[in-house]
Amino acid sequence: MIKLKNSDEIEKIRDSSFILIETFQGLKELVREGITTRELNAFARGFIEKRGAKPWFLGYLNYPASICVSINEEVIHGIPGKRKLKKGDIVSLDLGVNLKEYYSDAAVTLPVGKISKEREKLLSVTEECLHRGISQAVIGNRISHISKAIYFHAQKNGMDVVRQYCGHGVGFSPHEDPQVPNYVSSGPNPRLKAGMVLALEPMINTGTWEVKVLEDQWTVVTTDRKDSAHFEHTIVIHKDRTEILTSLNSHRSIFCK
Ligand code: MF3
Ligand code: CO
Repeated sequence: MIKLKNSDEIEKIRDSSFILIETFQGLKELVREGITTRELNAFARGFIEKRGAKPWFLGYLNYPASICVSINEEVIHGIPGKRKLKKGDIVSLDLGVNLKEYYSDAAVTLPVGKISKEREKLLSVTEECLHRGISQAVIGNRISHISKAIYFHAQKNGMDVVRQYCGHGVGFSPHEDPQVPNYVSSGPNPRLKAGMVLALEPMINTGTWEVKVLEDQWTVVTTDRKDSAHFEHTIVIHKDRTEILTSLNSHRSIFCK
């Protein structure tokens, strides 16, 4: 069942998202050669808790950390630890905030120093996929409009789309209906309505779309060990526009139909 949000509820998810944005601003400044992924995790946890919120990943399905840090061929759900970032790496940071039981979710893939042209292209195409998906997330369209926009942009650029993990509704809990596949699927395809809050999150690979989970039970990697990138925003569909709640820009991007 899809739970629509009223304007008071959206305001609370906006507050949750604002803490998430601020945390990302801090993380962005910390990302550089030599920092451990554990240090990034500690910063995020401390920052979120100081603001009276919780990093909802911590303990979710027994996940052991507050953020996910996934490097190069790691797609999502990388567990922070002793590993240090190296120049030329790409690092995906995924983060969720729970403020008074209102949930937000976002991810970004960042370069560590100078990266290869191929990696630059992967990052820009993945972010473009997210924004193409968002532009289709307007009243009157269906979930499949979002999926197709993401999928065809990746394909057009010679990249492939992870199938096993999807975007999702969010707000009252971390994962709600509907599922938002990043590829053209035959599953449920509801119409988009005002009050829907969605986390769109394309995961795009340079090589094969296929992925597997490592022995740590969490880290998802590409089976061919080629690179992967992940961008995610929490968005809300209004009657006349769509708002990105987790935009890192000081102004929030708005799309009119
Ligand atoms: N951002 C991820 C998602 O949308 C959540 C990470 S799973 C967790 O599903 F266990 F790490 F929380
Ligand atoms: Co998500």
